[in-house]
Amino acid sequence: MTPPLCPDCGGTGWKIVEREELSGAVRCHCVSTERATRLVGESAIPPLYANASFENFLLPRDNPIAYRELTEVFLQVRGYAREFPNTKRPGLLLMGSPGTGKTHLAVAAFRALLGKGFEGLFFDYQNLLDRIRSGYDKESNLGDKEAYRVALEREVLLLDDLGAHRVTDWVEDTVTSIITHRCNNSKPLIATTNLIDADAGFATYEKSGTGLVDHRTTLTERIGARARSRLFEMCLVIKMPLIEDYRIRKQRS
Ligand SMILES: Nc1ncnc2c1ncn2[C@@H]1O[C@H](COP(=O)(O)OP(=O)(O)OP(=O)(O)O)[C@@H](O)[C@H]1O
Ligand SMILES: [Mg+2]
Ligand SMILES: [Zn+2]
Repeated sequence: MTPPLCPDCGGTGWKIVEREELSGAVRCHCVSTERATRLVGESAIPPLYANASFENFLLPRDNPIAYRELTEVFLQVRGYAREFPNTKRPGLLLMGSPGTGKTHLAVAAFRALLGKGFEGLFFDYQNLLDRIRSGYDKESNLGDKEAYRVALEREVLLLDDLGAHRVTDWVEDTVTSIITHRCNNSKPLIATTNLIDADAGFATYEKSGTGLVDHRTTLTERIGARARSRLFEMCLVIKMPLIEDYRIRKQRS
């Protein structure tokens, strides 16, 4: 089905404007809308998150602490998306427990960047590694070599569930090279992860007097110190609040 022609420019992408005796051609608004639509289509956002946006991100009004903390995170992520590309750091890293809305918020921000005309690609971390590796295993598999190149080159990369699953030297090297390349070239990376890190505010070791230690796997353990260090350098790092898993909450209601 061909989309209907734009009523303002008849599909030419140019509009004639008349200003005091003069007339001239200006770019029509439909050009940017069309580009944004195409960019979303090429971004590989999974169907489950096809509608995830800032507008449909809900704040838990029944829990004042969770409400306040999640509101703050929401505003930070939305602020990043609004200011982009004039942000202090080009990237965004969302860290926290399952079901706290990391991927939802990451996609919302990502979509806002696509709306500004940036080319983006959503990649599930495990899937990206699998594809890169199969490309290396079978020399002929061009499609998968492509995955590595695209992960390096695409203007904006959303890497979902960074550090999930297995660790091998190969994985560490690959992740380090993708992150290093993107960092060196100031190419934005939006990432989500369940891994923890002391510098993001997780209690990875006993702080005097608290007696509390978070024993979950750290970012460094999974992706190595070098990739981790660059991620912190290039990203606005956000720790999700300790809130109930949205998936469970939704099932109950
Ligand atoms: N505050 C929220 N408002 C509306 N929907 C939400 C909210 N938080 C999460 N969801 C929805 O709940 C589901 C799980 O959220 P999401 O996938 O973002 O969690 P996650 O933190 O990425 O979890 P995981 O660590 O398991 O990947 C998604 O369908 C998401 O759209
Ligand atoms: Mg997720
Ligand atoms: Zn038009």
